[in-house]
Amino acid sequence: MASKRKKGAAKPPNRVPTGVTGLDSLVEGGFKKGSIVAVSGDPGSGKTTLGVQFLYNGAKKYKEPGIFISLEQSKHSLFEDMSCYGWDLKDLERKKLLHFVTLQPHETENFHNHELMIRGFIEEHNAKRLVLDSATSLIMSHKSNHEARKALILLMDKLRSWGVTSLLTAESTSDVHGNMTSSFKIEFLSDAVLYLYNMRRSNYRLHALEAVKMRGSSVNNKLCPLKFGKQGIAVYPNQTLFK
Ligand SMILES: Nc1ncnc2c1ncn2[C@@H]1O[C@H](COP(=O)(O)OP(=O)(O)O)[C@@H](O)[C@H]1O
Ligand SMILES: [Mg+2]
Repeated sequence: MASKRKKGAAKPPNRVPTGVTGLDSLVEGGFKKGSIVAVSGDPGSGKTTLGVQFLYNGAKKYKEPGIFISLEQSKHSLFEDMSCYGWDLKDLERKKLLHFVTLQPHETENFHNHELMIRGFIEEHNAKRLVLDSATSLIMSHKSNHEARKALILLMDKLRSWGVTSLLTAESTSDVHGNMTSSFKIEFLSDAVLYLYNMRRSNYRLHALEAVKMRGSSVNNKLCPLKFGKQGIAVYPNQTLFK
């Protein structure tokens, strides 16, 4: 019998599609429902854009409300940046399909003060997706590595208990050989890891995405070309990066 509930586009069971061209096919139809995905990469590699796109597509294509927690950029500046892709984030906010939270650096140690409000939105609007940009900024505000790791584990427990599928951005840098080094190993504690590359090659830059880890799924560890187009990021798993 067909469901009478209002739904968006069809989704594979237990998967949360990103709706990003080329990406879902790389991750068996989408992120695992309720999982924590680290999107780690170079500055300017597209971490913030991918996070916003995950929520934008969630709202527009799948009617799933989402939350964006920003430690990097003000709402005004992010909304303006993202409007170049034709994404009207204000409209999504009005429709309660998007909730934007800004955390100032001095507030990060008191993240729990914001938790009630975030949980409130999740429960009230049945939010399914959450983006934290960046997890590195949140975690590095702790005084020691030990404290940071403890805070990260606590945060991840909370995200899991809220039932959302989370995308955490993390700062790392790739060297000329494409090897990634992260300042803090958020990736180890996540269920899945995507690396985003912004690599200098003589007089031009290459953008790429690699699915590095997916608990419970196979990954092909191929560096896939990534492009910033008129409608955001698109990934090309069938094209080669180096010509
Ligand atoms: N209007 C645009 N058209 C095409 N590319 C853009 C546009 N605006 C930004 N970019 C690209 O987006 C990248 C920045 O993406 P961003 O998501 O902020 O990266 P990160 O969060 O990893 O630092 C830049 O490298 C730039 O190439
Ligand atoms: Mg960013």
